Amino acid sequence: MFLLQQFGPTGPSSVTYSCNMPIPYETFRNLVSHEKEKNETVLEGIYHRGQNNIWNGQELLKELVSKHGTPNIDSEKLGPIKNVFSIILWGEYAAWNVSSQLSFMLDDYGAKMAAVSQAHDEARHFYVMRDYLRLLEYEPQELPSQVSYILREVCETKHLARKLLGMQLMIEPIALTIFRFVRKGNIDPVLSSLLDHFEIDESRHVALGIKHLPRLLKEMSRAELVKFLFWQARLINAEISGLKFLEKDLIALGIDPLEAFEFAEEKQLECLRLVTQEMGINKNIWKPIVKVIQFKKKMTFYPNKQDNLIKRFSISLFEVFGTT
Ligand SMILES: [Fe+2]
Ligand SMILES: [Fe+2]
Repeated sequence: MFLLQQFGPTGPSSVTYSCNMPIPYETFRNLVSHEKEKNETVLEGIYHRGQNNIWNGQELLKELVSKHGTPNIDSEKLGPIKNVFSIILWGEYAAWNVSSQLSFMLDDYGAKMAAVSQAHDEARHFYVMRDYLRLLEYEPQELPSQVSYILREVCETKHLARKLLGMQLMIEPIALTIFRFVRKGNIDPVLSSLLDHFEIDESRHVALGIKHLPRLLKEMSRAELVKFLFWQARLINAEISGLKFLEKDLIALGIDPLEAFEFAEEKQLECLRLVTQEMGINKNIWKPIVKVIQFKKKMTFYPNKQDNLIKRFSISLFEVFGTT
């Protein structure tokens, strides 16, 4: 019920911020490093690209429906589509809130502009997905607990780096994976065309995380970094459980859950590799996280269903930690 209250169209939000900070005049005339200046320009570029590529969701949906007709999805796929895209709908709502929070919290002009641009995109994604689901006569239902846990963690954290990592580099890649696999399945031409547009926008949102997170990580102490990695591991754990929960729906849509998970995993790891590259440090910083993902994945998608828990645990443990 929490998510319907938290993310429902009329529900209250428990996240409040007061705007009492002084005007940061010094950020205008401060001597900034060349590197910071360059980064700011790149991030401003995300804002300008977003502005140049704005599309009208109402017009697009109308055009697609007049071209392909009102969506008419096979009965065995209709329920699964509603279940999966219910998560996407409320995920878009969370992304809209989180990017609005980010635009307030970030102090770097470029990153702030990129976050505002994202909030604008996410509002469009939300209303387009809402209107599309209305065509399918979707009725809001409570989200799976693993999904609501992830969205709540990212929405409620006051920790800027966690918010950025959670939304831009963990939730966005999962959404991109679902879009890609659903498009590949060619389930509904209207939905596939909408997702084409969503995907282009989402890749800009990932770029904000890759470009700005390194700066935040560089400012962290070792202890803060360890806590940060533990938080990430908890979130990954919930993500894998969330995908497992959707297993039946994904199969009904012709999607192999393990293949989808591995695609999402690769996307997330690629983001993390790019973050370390931006930081100019060894990519092994993420090694514990990679091991956690591999272990959880082996346990969750364990192939031999007859094996008991102890056997599954020991085999998975050996396969992951017995190798370097
Ligand atoms: Fe979105
Ligand atoms: Fe997004």
